[in-house]
Amino acid sequence: MRLGEGALARRKRYPDLVIASNRLPVRVLVGKGDFEVSPSVGGLASALRAIRGESVWIGWPGAVIPDSLEPKVTTRLAKDKLVPVYLSADDEEQFYGLVCNETLWPLFHYFSSRLRITPEAWERYVDVNERFAETILEHCGPETRVWVHDFHLMLVPAFLRRRRPDLSVGFFLHTPFPSSEIYRLLPERETLLRGVLGADYVSFQIGDYARHFRSTCLRVLGLDSQPDWLDIASRRVGIGVDPIGIDVGGFREALADPETEELHAQLDEQYRGRRLVLGVERLDYTKGIPQKLLAFERFLERDPSLARTTTMLQVLVPSRLESPEYRLQRDEIELLIARINGRFGQPGITPVEYLHRNISKNGLVALYRRADVMMVTPLRDGMNLVAHEFVLCQSEPGLVGRWRGALLLSEFAGAAQVLPGALLVNPWNVESVVDQLGTALELEPRERRRRLETMTKRVEALDVGRWADGFLTRLTRYSRRDRRRRPPPFVDEALEQKLVGRFARARTRTIVLDYDGTLREIEAHPDLALPTTEIRSVLRGLAVLPSTDVHIVSGRRRRNLEQWFGQLPIYLCAEHGYLARAPGEPWRALVELDLDWMPRIERLLRRVAADVPGAFVERKSCAIAWHYREAEPEYGAWRARELLNDLQQQLAGEPAEVLVGHRVVEVRARGVDKGLYVRSLFPDGKKPARSFVMGLGDDRTDHDLLEALPSGSIAGHVGGLLPSATADGAVRQHVRIVGPGEVRALLRSLAGAFSDESG
Ligand code: UDP
Ligand code: G6P
Repeated sequence: MRLGEGALARRKRYPDLVIASNRLPVRVLVGKGDFEVSPSVGGLASALRAIRGESVWIGWPGAVIPDSLEPKVTTRLAKDKLVPVYLSADDEEQFYGLVCNETLWPLFHYFSSRLRITPEAWERYVDVNERFAETILEHCGPETRVWVHDFHLMLVPAFLRRRRPDLSVGFFLHTPFPSSEIYRLLPERETLLRGVLGADYVSFQIGDYARHFRSTCLRVLGLDSQPDWLDIASRRVGIGVDPIGIDVGGFREALADPETEELHAQLDEQYRGRRLVLGVERLDYTKGIPQKLLAFERFLERDPSLARTTTMLQVLVPSRLESPEYRLQRDEIELLIARINGRFGQPGITPVEYLHRNISKNGLVALYRRADVMMVTPLRDGMNLVAHEFVLCQSEPGLVGRWRGALLLSEFAGAAQVLPGALLVNPWNVESVVDQLGTALELEPRERRRRLETMTKRVEALDVGRWADGFLTRLTRYSRRDRRRRPPPFVDEALEQKLVGRFARARTRTIVLDYDGTLREIEAHPDLALPTTEIRSVLRGLAVLPSTDVHIVSGRRRRNLEQWFGQLPIYLCAEHGYLARAPGEPWRALVELDLDWMPRIERLLRRVAADVPGAFVERKSCAIAWHYREAEPEYGAWRARELLNDLQQQLAGEPAEVLVGHRVVEVRARGVDKGLYVRSLFPDGKKPARSFVMGLGDDRTDHDLLEALPSGSIAGHVGGLLPSATADGAVRQHVRIVGPGEVRALLRSLAGAFSDESG
């Protein structure tokens, strides 16, 4: 027997891996004071079961376990390194039933009409996710990698990150990730996204879902991303595509099992002279079972005599029967089957047979092998492993019946993108499904084989062992990368006390502050970000201290700064370092500039702004900016990219440079940046003896400011800003500050403590 990829994978060891999913690979069935365990159903359980190696697996045992049985269940599961998270009946109803199955499941599968939002149940989702995170942490050592699975546990990565910032955490979504237009129906859309972004690496079944995720991060959280990563709060999160596969080796073993051969022979006998159309799915409305039955009914309507030669066998694996939606679906399917059999059946002939129960692996494999057509026609499916399993079982040498079948596959299953060779159908288009079913049944043997061979190569390449290895390799790469960056510390109470002490003891004090995003929170429009009374009083409080200079260095225009701060005894610098003035003195330009390029560029920017609703142009003395923060984000970003190309051509050889900021493209005269002003404050490049110098800024233009501070100064990075790659951490003390609120609090403490110590 050949040793398949899957078998190899099962021998692999993942010694320091913790897997977390809502479902464990087994479910506990309680009865009469005792319990039994049986395998869980569904793609997630099938796939992970095959690759887990030595990892610990944390999950729900699938039933409410009475307190008296818990210790016994825990001990039994521990034998297989399974760790239960027990859910009460209320948890089961609210977390699993309401939020997971009635909100997230329909939402992620585009069933907005089945979406039920129960706000009271959301707290339970948060609570259960937190409990999962706690249990996970109990099993984490210093080098542990945690792999969180699926829509039930989307907040777990953020909970883990909060408690263990150094932990390596990956998240994989088994379902589709919908378009942002659907996702944003969810009231808790932001929290859920931030939960997932607690991971180092987030991955999806196919490229479309990853693309939807990125565009949702942009539209819901305003976060820009690259195709394979995004930065959030000073961390980088990898985004990937890892299509899941099946345990190829495990299926090969089942095919080689004599019991399978026997079952196959029985089936062959039973369906002698008949063509078998097979369907296997959990009884779930996403699987499009009624639509499939309607197509089969139509197939028989077109030619009723086909009932004598063709049987449809539908295996319905029981699923989520606690939910009324699922029970209704079962009733609808049973009615449809009865109707078709009533219309087209004859004595001894039942056109649609169906089983509503789990079937053994060998039984399933024998069915896959015997089928003439496998109909996998979900309305929406993350991947669909049944399609993979069918292909492999058809292609493996051994049993009779090799290359017998054809695969009819919905274009709305992830599998459609990874299995070229399937006959693709739109399950909503009944007539075309019927046509394709006819084609599948009549396919030439050579064509049948060619298609199966093409698909088999893909199924082998997508083996579940490779899936896990690929995911974990990328997870490790992203988590290591992030750890190497080692961000500077946040200003906490202890660090604040130290800074306050140094400030109070210094002979002279210089504080250089950016305005937007540093002193003041960013608003949707710059005109809304006016300084508050609090900001003015904080600035005044500092500026009146002896030997203390306060500088505001902003990209804003002179007019703004003069109007807002002209009355305060502070230094002002406008337009990123071009114009400046000392308290009570006139404004002056720091450099002579050649601005001949400006009118031409202004015309270009205004032309593009006219095309993009929400975009506008801001003209300054030595710069001109194209803002698109109020434009539709993706269209705005697209036009910004185009604009960058045009600007590159138009500005070749001109003394101007292009800066890309947060939803703004700015063209500025070369030789002007915030560093220019800071350097003018310290002409010999040194900090005066016994002085306190601190600069604070929050965006990329502030890197210039912070990097121009003389050595021995404090460089404060506000919000998500991190020191740039070129910054020399050794000569300046780099610190981080959460946001403008914390900046103001720090400035107040500095002023207050000075008067304490000096008084
Ligand atoms: N399956 C099962 N019990 C059965 C029949 C099938 O567990 O009685 C397995 C099947 O082999 C496949 C999985 O259930 O691995 C279904 O996965 P799929 O990705 O097709 O859909 P999901 O149920 O996860 O939505
Ligand atoms: C899908 C989900 C899995 C889930 C499975 C069975 O495959 O992606 O997370 O385990 O369905 O559903 P159940 O609700 O029984 O766990």
